[in-house]
Amino acid sequence: MHDFHYKNGELYCEKVLISTIAKEYPTPFYLYSYNTIVGHFNKIKEAFKDVDPLICFSMKSNSNLNICKALVNEGAGLDIVSGGELFKALKVGCSAENIVYASVGKTEEEIKEAIEKGILLFNVESVPELIMIDTVAKRLNKKATAAIRVNPDVKPYTHDYITTGTKEKKFGVDFKTAEDIFDNANKYSNVDLKGLHVHIGSQITEAKPFVEAIERVLDFLKKNNIEIEWLNLGGGFGIVYEDEKASTAQDFAGKIVPLIKDKPFKVILEPGRFIMGNGGVLVCKVLYVKTSSAGKRFAIVDAGMNDLLRPSLYEAHHDIFPIVKRESETHKYDVVGPICESGDYLALGRELQEIIPGEYLSVMGAGAYGFSMASNYNSRPRPAELLVMDEAVKVIRPAETRQDLIRGEKILKEFKAK
Ligand code: LLP
Repeated sequence: MHDFHYKNGELYCEKVLISTIAKEYPTPFYLYSYNTIVGHFNKIKEAFKDVDPLICFSMKSNSNLNICKALVNEGAGLDIVSGGELFKALKVGCSAENIVYASVGKTEEEIKEAIEKGILLFNVESVPELIMIDTVAKRLNKKATAAIRVNPDVKPYTHDYITTGTKEKKFGVDFKTAEDIFDNANKYSNVDLKGLHVHIGSQITEAKPFVEAIERVLDFLKKNNIEIEWLNLGGGFGIVYEDEKASTAQDFAGKIVPLIKDKPFKVILEPGRFIMGNGGVLVCKVLYVKTSSAGKRFAIVDAGMNDLLRPSLYEAHHDIFPIVKRESETHKYDVVGPICESGDYLALGRELQEIIPGEYLSVMGAGAYGFSMASNYNSRPRPAELLVMDEAVKVIRPAETRQDLIRGEKILKEFKAK
């Protein structure tokens, strides 16, 4: 499943002992396993081979250029959500023909750029957006290609913040609106409506919601006699963070492929977390240990919510592994960061071996939505990103410096209105 494992009580990433990396590179840092990441991509490819999908890695989960490039080299396309991601996608040599672009708020400028570059599909999330794409394409004297993102109103049984395909959410359009759009396709003469897109949420651990969504989409196509060239099923395949019974790529494919095999359209998938989640960890150092008067033990580490936001934002569980195991009694700890907020924690009430200041901890499952959601809050430089390939450790993004913290800021000479 992933290549982070203990040998003789010490944690390794592939063939490298994490404690040796921690001696060389200051903490905190993200550490990714190349084999795990590429392995996950290939698992999806293999499981879905009967429909030979275009697998567009969802860059928002991790947009480090090297990660994207590694996947593009394996044959991945990219799923983007901003002009910034388009810029990065092209930078790593992803062909525009393998780029799909979702987001409810694409700006006119972003749309223009994406048309000029010739991306495969806009995933269109509203009628006004479609009008904007049509208008910009007309002005450029080009034809834009698009899929309509439908909101199938299916519950994915995941955290509310990462539920997208229920009717009270801002994403996509309902089936009625999609029908109107296809009926009036000639109104959008500079947009070629080539497909449908459906993304119902993230960290979905069973196939059922996907099946429900696909059935609704297929029904819709049949009822309205709509022919499409592309069906984009979005991302959302969940992973094991704790004790979830996550489905394997084979499990998902086993339920999904029979529904879409032998159909006259091509398939796109947009996985992010499934590829990256368990492909990375956040390594941090314990600075202090203290016990409150209420008897609560705190392990204060040098990584905080600015480095890994998921626990604070979604109450997400991430396993915390010591990088060296010792024989000792265990205690319950709140593992907290240095940020000035009570919500700044990596784990609460976690049973861990007796923690010693100076030791290193590995926060597991941090490869997706880890660095990509990191910030400079509390004027903290963002951590380094390191990539392990077998025995090699490569710096794919150095830790930010003090200078990075003030980049672009200018001190006014004087504070006068004129
Ligand atoms: N496609 C679209 C249109 C999406 O909005 C997303 C994720 C994906 C694909 C990839 O989903 P995945 O395969 O990674 O589940 N920050 C949250 C997750 C937000 C997901 C947003 N959209 C987290 O840390 O859990």
